[in-house]
Amino acid sequence: MRYLPLEEITEDMCLARPIFNGDGRVLLSNGVKLSKNYVSRLKEMGYQNLYVYRVGEEISDFSTPISDQTMREAIHGVKDAFGKAAQRQQLNIRDVNEIVSYILDEILTNPNVLYNLMDIKNHDNYYYHHSVNVCIISTLIAKEMGLAREKVKDLTTGALLHDLGMVCVDPRILSQPRKLTEDEMATVREHTNYGFQLLRSERNLSILVAHTAYQHHERMDGSGYPKGLVGEDIHLFGRIVAVADSYETMTSGRVYRKAMWSHEAIRQLRESAPEKYDPDVVAAMERSIAFYPVGSVVVLNTHEEAVVVDVNAKKITIQFSSGPRVNALMDLEPDSEIKIEERLS
Ligand SMILES: [Fe+2]
Repeated sequence: MRYLPLEEITEDMCLARPIFNGDGRVLLSNGVKLSKNYVSRLKEMGYQNLYVYRVGEEISDFSTPISDQTMREAIHGVKDAFGKAAQRQQLNIRDVNEIVSYILDEILTNPNVLYNLMDIKNHDNYYYHHSVNVCIISTLIAKEMGLAREKVKDLTTGALLHDLGMVCVDPRILSQPRKLTEDEMATVREHTNYGFQLLRSERNLSILVAHTAYQHHERMDGSGYPKGLVGEDIHLFGRIVAVADSYETMTSGRVYRKAMWSHEAIRQLRESAPEKYDPDVVAAMERSIAFYPVGSVVVLNTHEEAVVVDVNAKKITIQFSSGPRVNALMDLEPDSEIKIEERLS
């Protein structure tokens, strides 16, 4: 199974991971043969990469931080929350709590699991997928930092709803297929204030949830917004979601910007700490995210090519795709002599 840009997908390939639309429904399921028509339709819809396999290729199981079922429900729940907020209606907090509790159950009880998949999203479902991914990454970071479940709950909820205030921003600005102007950026920056107002008015949510959304664009050196808070004046949850949000944004392609690969985004975040990001949070994130997610095509120090077929905190499982060991599987542990040198796609 590989994660390939649409341009590299050929007609002998099938979809290896389902594509979920903005409702959390399956738009295209595993195993569908990717005809030219499908690929050009998906391109029109704004998708850039897909998980694929060649007809006849065996794909092995791997574990993900949350199940596809929970992923679908979470995407659906975020869409519902955005819809309610846009209509200035109260959120369905019972649903939000249920989703958060599934996510916590799955992440906190799954040892060694990493954020190990690249996401498949387009402009229509961007904020729903983005919200769920930021929520997963933030929860993994909190787990890595040893926070107790009861504490993590507000963080997970705040991360899931961190961009809720986007519903108050003019959608014509958000759907621009280009980099925004300074004026437009100023309008978008207001989403932290809007999100805070929307969430603090929810009587059944902890005020910490609202503060997490309020502070997720603050930066350690005071260069963030909306308040320009410095260092530990930013709540830990704000510092965690700042890192998770930046990572997710960097690794997501937009029409006007290519996605960064995980290891590049991790390196950039590490280089931006401690000025912009809390170094303890960045260190916990580095232990929570796969440098080479499942589906990465890599070159080894033996000059062989391989595909990453599973990855967790203990080992990376690769399948050789060239050389005398083609198709063989191998586990790379931190002290293995064979190492990944470079990612090709
Ligand atoms: Fe944001």
